[in-house]
Parts: sequence; C-alpha cells; structure tokens
Amino acid sequence: MQNLDFYDLKPKLSDFRQEVLVGLSKPQKSIPPKFFYDKQGSEIFEQICELEEYYPTRTELAIFKQHCEEIAALMGENCLIVEYGSGSSEKIRIFLDVLKNPSAYMPIDISKEHMLRASEEVARAYPKLDVLSVCGDYTQKLILPVYEKKPVKTKVIFFPGNTIGNLDYADAVELFSQAATLVGSGGGMLIGIDMKKDPQILHAAYNDAKGVTAAFNLNLLVRMNRDLSANFDLSSFSHYAFYSPKSSRIEMHLVSLKNQVVSVAKQEFEFSKGESIHTENSYKFNLEEFQKVAEEGGFNLVKVWSDDNQFFSICYLSVA
Ligand SMILES: C[S@@+](CC[C@H](N)C(=O)[O-])C[C@H]1O[C@@H](n2cnc3c(N)ncnc32)[C@H](O)[C@@H]1O
Repeated sequence: MQNLDFYDLKPKLSDFRQEVLVGLSKPQKSIPPKFFYDKQGSEIFEQICELEEYYPTRTELAIFKQHCEEIAALMGENCLIVEYGSGSSEKIRIFLDVLKNPSAYMPIDISKEHMLRASEEVARAYPKLDVLSVCGDYTQKLILPVYEKKPVKTKVIFFPGNTIGNLDYADAVELFSQAATLVGSGGGMLIGIDMKKDPQILHAAYNDAKGVTAAFNLNLLVRMNRDLSANFDLSSFSHYAFYSPKSSRIEMHLVSLKNQVVSVAKQEFEFSKGESIHTENSYKFNLEEFQKVAEEGGFNLVKVWSDDNQFFSICYLSVA
C-alpha cells in the first residue's frame, strides 16, 4: 500500500527476559503490564472491550462521537496524529472521519502483528492519509520517523483508553514530558482517563463473569512458558483484581494457589501459597489530580468532556 510505511524499533525479547527476571526477584514479585500484549493478549484485550461490565470503551467512544467535531477543530487542519498504544486503531477513525485534511497518522504499539493489521486497515480505509506505523515502546526514549511528505501544522498525541493509568506518578510525568517535547510548542494531546467511582463498578469491570479478564491476566504465564521456556502450571495460579481506595487504583495480581517452584529462563523462583505476581495497576483519577500530573509534564488542560455519570473523561491538553 502506497500510503503505509512500517518502522520496527524492535522492542526486544531480551527486554522481556530481563524485566521478568528482575521483577520475579523482587520481594513483591511484579511484571510490567506492557508484556500482556503479545498477539493472543491483544486479541483477548479486544474481547474485554466488548464486555458488559467493561464500561470504559463504550463510554469513551460515546464521548468521542458526541464531541468529535469540536475536538477536531482543536486539533486543526493538516495535523500529524501520533497514537500511543494504538491497539486496534478503532477509536482514531472517529476523528479521521471529521478532521480537515489530516496529514499523517503514526500509531505506536508494542504488539507488532496486531498493530500491523490495524494499520493496514486504516491505510486502506483512508487512502489520502499517510500511515507511518511504528512498533515500539512509548515508555522508552523513542526516535520516531521524520515525516515531511505533506505540511504539518500541529502534532497531536492521541492516548485513549486510560492506558496512562498503567503508569505510576513519576513515570506518567516522564511520559508527558517526552510527549511535550515530541509535539513541541502549540502541539496537543487528546487523552482518555478513567475517573474515580463506586468501587463495585470498578470491581465488576476487572472481574467479569465470563472470565475474560482472568484469561488476559493468565496469558502472561502462557507467554512466559512459550518465550522464556518457563513451566508455570496455569491451574496453580488465580486471577485476583481489586480496587484500593488508598492508592486510587485497580491492582491486578496472579496468586499462587500452593507452595511451588517455577523455572523461568533457567532460573528458579519460589512461590509460597498465597504469594502473588503484581501484573497491572490501573489508576483512577479526579480532574485535579490528572491536571497536576499533566502540568508537571509540560501540558496545560484546555478542555474536558465527560459522560453524564462522570465515569470517564476526555481531556484536550496543549503545550504552552
Ligand atoms: C489498554 S490497551 C488500549 C488499546 C486502545 N488504545 C484502546 O484505547 O482501546 C493498551 C495498548 O497499548 C499497547 N501498549 C501497552 N504498553 C505499551 C508500551 N509501553 N509501548 C507501546 N505500546 C504499549 C498495548 O499493546 C495495547 O494495544
């Protein structure tokens, strides 16, 4: 396809091995959530987005649809959109349909095959748009492809789905700082954040009745068995997710159901019964807290849109 280019920044398997070995050696065993997303993990995540209990995706989509014209006006003409964690690239289409002559779309995702397929679909559906698809890790320093084919008036980062909520405060500030440098003065960010709410609603969203979120969490063990020659017995670990009001976050864990020793990349790790691997945080925000972290990273809050229940918010930020 003439309007599609692919850049592989090669997030390495050795990073996976290294981060897993370091994470499993900590007193509280942990593995960063970015490693959920192999091909299988990305597919399971799409199933999560369809679940009755998982309100974020449909709520965010409804806000986008309701306000897309106003948001597109803020993004302006001839913009270059860089999407962090683009996944299926479904949400950006709402804006591609209403933006005035967008110049290029640059999806960045760690899950290569999934992202490639999604990028091809976008390039096919929007033949006048240049799609520069990047396989990379947005938590690392990224050297992105230079785009000069068409004029670019504004660079805007699109970061939906409360993926920012996976990062602790300092890492979130670091991401905003790097993003602010990337888009430069006058550049923007359109970001979706999940708001604090009744913990029962949050609890249900991460403990769905069909067990899809549990399968997503357990797939990390499948991935380690395959890619790191590990020997996790899936029936000896249980998905456990809960909301901590003190930390304002959902924590996801894999809990060992017995005393056991597991081998990963030729190293042995002991698990006592009830011990967990901490696999994900998903922070929930109020507007003031979110504004503080974004401002510390160099972005000003321009406008906010929410649903009637205030479950989810979309923020447009700009670099002063
Ligand atoms: C929660 S999903 C959101 C997907 C989509 N943006 C949405 O809103 O539905 C997170 C996405 O970010 C990607 N991802 C997670 N951590 C990443 C990282 N450090 N660098 C690049 N992509 C990452 C995953 O592969 C996945 O597609």
